[in-house]
Amino acid sequence: MIALTNGNAPVQAAPDTSVLNQQNFSTDVIYQIVTDRFLDGNSANNPTGAAFSPGCQNLRVYCGGDWAGIIAKINDNYFTDLGISALWISQPVENIYAVINYSGVNNTAYHGYWARDFKKTNPAFGSMTEFQNLIQAAHAKNIKIIIDFAPNHTSPASETNPSFAENGRFYNNGVLMGSYTGDTSGYFHHNGGSNFATIEDGIYRNLYDLADFNHNNNTVDSYFKESIKLWLNMGIDGIRVDAVKHMPFGWQKSWMSYIYNYKPVFTFGEWFLGVNEISPENYHFANDSGMSLLDFEFGQTARQVFRDNTANMYDLDAMINRTAAAYTQIADQVTFIDNHDMDRFHTTGASARRLEQALAFTLTSRGVPAIYYGTEQYMTGNGDPDNRAMMTSFNRTSTAYQLTKKLALLRKTNPALAYGTTQQRWLNNDVYIYERKFGNNVTVIAINRGSAPVSISGLATSLPAGTYGDVLSGLLNGNSISASANGGVSTFTLGAGAVGVWQYTASASAPAIGNIGPDMGKAGNVVTIDGRGFGAAKGTVFFDTTAVTGATIVSWEDTQIKVVVPAIAAKKYQVKIRSSAGSDSNSYANYNVLSGDQVTVRFVVSGATTVFGENVYLAGNVAELGGWESAKAIGPMYNQVLHAYPTWYYDVSVPANTTLQYKYFKKNGQAIVWQSGNNRTFTTPTSGTATVHINW
Ligand code: NOJ
Ligand code: NOJ
Ligand code: CA
Ligand code: CA
Repeated sequence: MIALTNGNAPVQAAPDTSVLNQQNFSTDVIYQIVTDRFLDGNSANNPTGAAFSPGCQNLRVYCGGDWAGIIAKINDNYFTDLGISALWISQPVENIYAVINYSGVNNTAYHGYWARDFKKTNPAFGSMTEFQNLIQAAHAKNIKIIIDFAPNHTSPASETNPSFAENGRFYNNGVLMGSYTGDTSGYFHHNGGSNFATIEDGIYRNLYDLADFNHNNNTVDSYFKESIKLWLNMGIDGIRVDAVKHMPFGWQKSWMSYIYNYKPVFTFGEWFLGVNEISPENYHFANDSGMSLLDFEFGQTARQVFRDNTANMYDLDAMINRTAAAYTQIADQVTFIDNHDMDRFHTTGASARRLEQALAFTLTSRGVPAIYYGTEQYMTGNGDPDNRAMMTSFNRTSTAYQLTKKLALLRKTNPALAYGTTQQRWLNNDVYIYERKFGNNVTVIAINRGSAPVSISGLATSLPAGTYGDVLSGLLNGNSISASANGGVSTFTLGAGAVGVWQYTASASAPAIGNIGPDMGKAGNVVTIDGRGFGAAKGTVFFDTTAVTGATIVSWEDTQIKVVVPAIAAKKYQVKIRSSAGSDSNSYANYNVLSGDQVTVRFVVSGATTVFGENVYLAGNVAELGGWESAKAIGPMYNQVLHAYPTWYYDVSVPANTTLQYKYFKKNGQAIVWQSGNNRTFTTPTSGTATVHINW
């Protein structure tokens, strides 16, 4: 067999990656837009007076960007030519109109994070009809629309000064629901601003001065279910959830199960991590909430290596290995090198090549890459709001633009990038050569961030014998390589600052699962399985050993299967497929079957005294409470903000309309002391939220 491939002309046709697939974004490249800062397509909707800055001289107020501007760029193929197949736009909902003066400086809600009505649009971005036009225009070009969504809070408010800004007021499609001051319905938390010392503090106190929602309130809970339903009905393809570290995890899981039950779309949350920050709670959230996360560990490390020179290629490789082990669905986490909350990657005077290397790394790594608007135009700007300047140019010939285009195409054509494993193949302080592999598909990427050429000898790969042209056609000074029959690559020189990409695609010899979405659901929900080599004829889908065949398989194509979750016990499953020819795929781990519809219950236990180092946990008979396994129990519970020690509390997603058996236990190291007596019972509501409070 001759295995000669030309990097510029992939041997396989592009697989189906249409907007119809709202679960799997692994083959997509996301482009993040601050709507107000992209393009003013309709000056008639621009705010007036102090709220608006003509020419965007003042980056803290509105500058005029809108959905009409985004539509114009969709229609003139700016995104298509860049290889972009998903746009993440600012929160589309109506925001406060007030201009807030902080220490003599005017600020507005141009960023979209100061909501006042989650069921209306921000008129500065456009009307509901224009939003519909945006979805239609995007879908017509096979581009998905992801909305930012911030259910943690409304807007800046002062407990003691109701006339400050709009006092956090929120509306239900125009009907006033409540204000921060005089909040007799308990829609908000009133515990002051967070010092961020603990996760509990960040959840139940205000994020800065933002009026913080109480999601354990029935009205708030149903308001956010109804409002996300409205946007799902508008045809959105994905959701970026703001500030997930600052909302109760139980509420978010039950909200996700509501979304997945109604109209599942790819959903990823923002859990900010600083430089060198590694958070087990972050991993746990990504693995258990049903939501993916923005991969800050990836982003921060890439910035250290390629931008700040505070880490090297060993650190980059360690991050890749660490995250692959920590996140159960690594291909679903969203990677990036900068965003609207960080200094832009590129700085004035810095080498453009470092940005290009970081982009190449992101576009060829596991996860769903998100590119911040203007990166392809080498925009600079440190800190907020300088990192949110008006888009400077729409030039399609920049190196970064061309690079993105070529690698976005490769993500669509070679599934090794979207779904593959990552293996380090050659490493020193400045050189990282890694291989992505999925089935018989291989991509090898070599990056030299150093200022001297490096002779690469002894490089082993999975490439079949042949000569491989650089997929980037030398754009970043890569050249071709030759592999021998065992995949060994003849010694070559990787130029100073060079990036080379070599790829091989072949049809599948066995079925291989690359992605499953959503990764959580109840019996009866439909799950989308993407991969290669499933064959044309219906075979079998296994949830552990439970075989699903026939009518409960909704559709079966060579690269995609849709299957109904069978009525099986709630727990995490290994999903595997068997082709009609009897060939088995890999097992895709951790599909989470829930007990049924979910509601949020606040569990509170008083009088639970502990010694230093000892914590209280909650366990019970349903999977959502760990099925009596102490290692899967809920906790450590909280005891500082809403209730104080020795009272402990936690908001938990549990099956609706179910009589639960539960108990608390104290854990100190490995030692566990259960509550004495019979199991306690609690019947959960059919909808809404509840609280159950007992004494230890
Ligand atoms: C995180 C967002 O990305 C940031 O820009 C915003 O100000 C806060 N959350 C509050 O919504
Ligand atoms: C597990 C048992 O199944 C349950 O009934 C009991 O309450 C807890 N362990 C604590 O002992
Ligand atoms: Ca405008
Ligand atoms: Ca909160």
